[in-house]
Amino acid sequence: MSNIYLIGFMGSGKSTLGTLLSNSLNFNFIDTDKLIEKRNSMSISNIFKTKGELFFRNEETKIIKEIIKLNKTIVSTGGGMPCFNNNIETLNKYGKTIYLDYDIESLYLRLKEDNKRPLLNNKSLKKDIQELLNTRKKIYNKCNYTILCQNLNQDEVLREINALIISK
Ligand code: S3P
Repeated sequence: MSNIYLIGFMGSGKSTLGTLLSNSLNFNFIDTDKLIEKRNSMSISNIFKTKGELFFRNEETKIIKEIIKLNKTIVSTGGGMPCFNNNIETLNKYGKTIYLDYDIESLYLRLKEDNKRPLLNNKSLKKDIQELLNTRKKIYNKCNYTILCQNLNQDEVLREINALIISK
């Protein structure tokens, strides 16, 4: 069975959902951010600070090229991963991509207590989310499937993802 890629903005719950799904479906699980941190023995924030975003984006693309050779794997992607180096096209070609779609207000509420993301500044959080989401939305919309998550709780999102995986 082909891989499932969970796609979406920071704070969409990709890692938590990916872990839960992989356990219930008995799939392997890869969190691309965690893998990059492990390979570089450094947090994402430190990678951005010391090596720069371009380095990080290249790491993401390298990892995709490895992951597409696997199967039966749930992959939680970093929020920017599909938006660089034509990665979304690669993911769509070799697996199923699921966009976890939240509006700006929901993302703001989900992210406001969080300060470990190098691309967001807590002082201008809503504006940062708005600007980034505006540029990324057209890429996220290329995913094979979209789940409108903002009015769903975690179990409901899980159920929707499960239904997509099982029915396709
Ligand atoms: C990023 C999202 C982060 C992480 C990095 C860059 C982005 O992952 O990859 O900070 O560009 O949106 P999460 O979506 O898991 O927060």
